[in-house]
Amino acid sequence: MTMLGGSKGMSQNLFKSILVFTFLYGVLSNPPEDPIQCSSNSTNCTITNSYGMFPDRSTCQAAQVLFPNTEEELVSMVASAARNKSKMKAATRFSHSIPKLVCPEGEDGVLISTKNLKTILRIDVEARTMTVESGATLRQVISEAARFELALPYTPYWWGLTIGGLLGTGAHGSSLWGKGSAVHERVVGLRIVTPAGSEEGYAKVRNLSESDEDLNAAKVSLGVLGVISQVTLKLEPLFKRSLTYVTKNDSDLGDQALTFGHQHEFADITWFPSQRKAMYRIDDRVPTNTSGDGRYEFIPFRPTLSAELAVVRTTEDIQEATKDANGKCLGAIALTGTLAAAAYGLTNNGILFTGYPVIGFSNHMQSSGTCLDSSKDAFITVCPWDSRIKGTFFHQTAFSVGLSVVKNFIEDVQKLVDLEPKSLCAIELNNGILMRYVKASSAYLGKTEDAIDFDMTYYRSKDPLDPRLFEDIYEEIEQMGLFKYGGLPHWGKNRNLVFVEAINKYPHADKFLRVKQEYDPQGLFSSEWTDQVLGLKQGITIVKDGCALEGLCICSEDRHCAPSKGYFCRAGRIYKEARVCTRREEESYLRAEL
Ligand SMILES: Cc1cc2nc3c(=O)[nH]c(=O)nc-3n(C[C@H](O)[C@H](O)[C@H](O)COP(=O)(O)OP(=O)(O)OC[C@H]3O[C@@H](n4cnc5c(N)ncnc54)[C@H](O)[C@@H]3O)c2cc1C
Ligand SMILES: *[C@@H]1O[C@H](CO)[C@@H](O)[C@H](O)[C@H]1NC(C)=O
Ligand SMILES: *[C@@H]1O[C@H](CO)[C@@H](O)[C@H](O)[C@H]1NC(C)=O
Ligand SMILES: *[C@@H]1O[C@H](CO)[C@@H](O)[C@H](O)[C@H]1NC(C)=O
Ligand SMILES: *[C@@H]1O[C@H](CO)[C@@H](O)[C@H](O)[C@H]1NC(C)=O
Ligand SMILES: *[C@@H]1O[C@H](CO)[C@@H](O)[C@H](O)[C@H]1NC(C)=O
Ligand SMILES: *[C@@H]1O[C@H](CO)[C@@H](O)[C@H](O)[C@H]1NC(C)=O
Repeated sequence: MTMLGGSKGMSQNLFKSILVFTFLYGVLSNPPEDPIQCSSNSTNCTITNSYGMFPDRSTCQAAQVLFPNTEEELVSMVASAARNKSKMKAATRFSHSIPKLVCPEGEDGVLISTKNLKTILRIDVEARTMTVESGATLRQVISEAARFELALPYTPYWWGLTIGGLLGTGAHGSSLWGKGSAVHERVVGLRIVTPAGSEEGYAKVRNLSESDEDLNAAKVSLGVLGVISQVTLKLEPLFKRSLTYVTKNDSDLGDQALTFGHQHEFADITWFPSQRKAMYRIDDRVPTNTSGDGRYEFIPFRPTLSAELAVVRTTEDIQEATKDANGKCLGAIALTGTLAAAAYGLTNNGILFTGYPVIGFSNHMQSSGTCLDSSKDAFITVCPWDSRIKGTFFHQTAFSVGLSVVKNFIEDVQKLVDLEPKSLCAIELNNGILMRYVKASSAYLGKTEDAIDFDMTYYRSKDPLDPRLFEDIYEEIEQMGLFKYGGLPHWGKNRNLVFVEAINKYPHADKFLRVKQEYDPQGLFSSEWTDQVLGLKQGITIVKDGCALEGLCICSEDRHCAPSKGYFCRAGRIYKEARVCTRREEESYLRAEL
């Protein structure tokens, strides 16, 4: 996710120095800031996400934050808030979701943080199950399981997520095998604390197992059912994997994408559409006695020098301001080449990359995130998106497109690139479009069919009224994926427009709402945002001047774009139903700029 602008040949050297410094200072990193800040005594609080910015740039308020240490304390806290009829929300140590899921309604709500609820409670080696408190991070789960020679086979790629949070949003890795890549597919038991009537003491624990239908609601819940206290996951014996990246031209990507996921258990594809290249992750299980102690410490998730991040950001700011599409494309080529040469953070033995395949234990190859490590270093290094420094700042559009239509979607994107060959270099500066396999789920808010999830990360200006380069192409891809091809949003990412009528694409949404009504009839865990996402309230988009630039709306009038800067609301080029902010009068505009 590191953005590397850098014009011309400079980029390459710049990136090399990032790598060098990262290795030198690798142990020193400033841990991410606590997303919850209170004025005193854990009262009068604000909450944001790990990027320091929700899609509408607001900050949320809460009257107080509570830190349960045990399930018992959690029950009494939910009971106390329920007795008061207070709105509440579960919050996590890092708050990695982009949309406003974590905000309680209003300003006098209660945040219940799982920061101290992170114990690994039980590991049953025979049954291959692990029970953890909901604030345990993916990193803890993976490493504790490995100590008992067990593995959670498919997970997100970033260590910093909590079990409660990643279940809340349906987070996943990449696989079409078995039950697929979503962590919720491995949940065999879950304890959730919900409000209750006075006769039950205002709160109760519901203990769900695989035989309870309600588990299909609770395992992807957007946090609206209550606070998950414990989760039991089904594991597998620890195994080894063999990973090779192969880069090819993308002319047959539409066909390859359909078969590749069936061929390799941990397959994913990174697509560089403007470079017309696709990088295939050939990643499969191998016998445990195969030699190799490889590791995958994804470079953008390592502690990164804040001074370098500032240079990279400034470069991209300038490229945007001067409409320097060439500069972006040269930067993208340099970055892609440098990352490839550094094998993206893969090593064959924990120190050096000597060549493919990289063979290692699954717990060392699936996820990473050393920039989380705490050792205060006065911001010498941070996670690249840390909002306290001048670092990366982006929009992230993430949706899954069903395998039945994904080839057409890919080909439509390719047609757009044919029309505007340089348009997607900005995505390549953010390491390309990550394509990951996900499977149809029994979760009511899980995927409805086998699909490919497309993750697109791209420049966001600090000024909400600034249009971005090739704004229209990005918007057309977004609307095409969602509305022409029926894409399903990642609940924990995305801009407002992506959720427009999304709930209508889930045939079991009514079942989810019935469980919500039963568990939390007063909607204490619901907010305006979750009601809008679940189709219970209008107003998911915010219509105002410039709203389409931030994805708060789909433009219908020019003022939703940036007419004074030459961007007007027009139809898409391939998907005519799209309404996008298109740059006009390029010539006169450029002259005015100069
Ligand atoms: C660097 C980075 C990499 C990422 N990589 C991936 C990836 O590879 N795959 C992927 O799918 N996603 C990925 N994501 C997105 C991520 O999975 C989601 O944003 C995830 O929900 C965040 O988890 P969290 O613990 O930070 O939860 P939060 O964002 O804090 O919370 C998410 C929701 O869950 C609810 N919640 C949290 N805990 C509980 C609980 N105990 N009980 C009930 N509800 C709860 C919250 O109220 C909120 O509604 C990534 C995000 C980042 C920042
Ligand atoms: C903070 O809490 C402590 C103990 O609960 C209490 O003694 C103190 O008065 C509180 N301070 C404020 C400013 O509310
Ligand atoms: C809450 O905090 C804000 C600033 O963070 C401050 O302006 C306000 O006075 C505080 N309110 C109370 C009741 O303490
Ligand atoms: C419930 O209300 C009481 C009295 O106003 C207050 O002391 C307590 O903190 C509230 N509990 C929660 C969880 O908000
Ligand atoms: C929760 O349910 C499971 C499965 O039905 C059961 O084995 C377990 O004992 C229950 N736990 C509690 C604390 O009731
Ligand atoms: C892409 O690669 C294939 C072989 O894999 C080749 O046949 C084709 O000509 C290439 N296309 C381009 C545009 O280079
Ligand atoms: C690995 O183990 C299998 C079965 O135990 C054996 O047949 C094979 O020769 C071993 N391979 C190596 C490389 O040791």
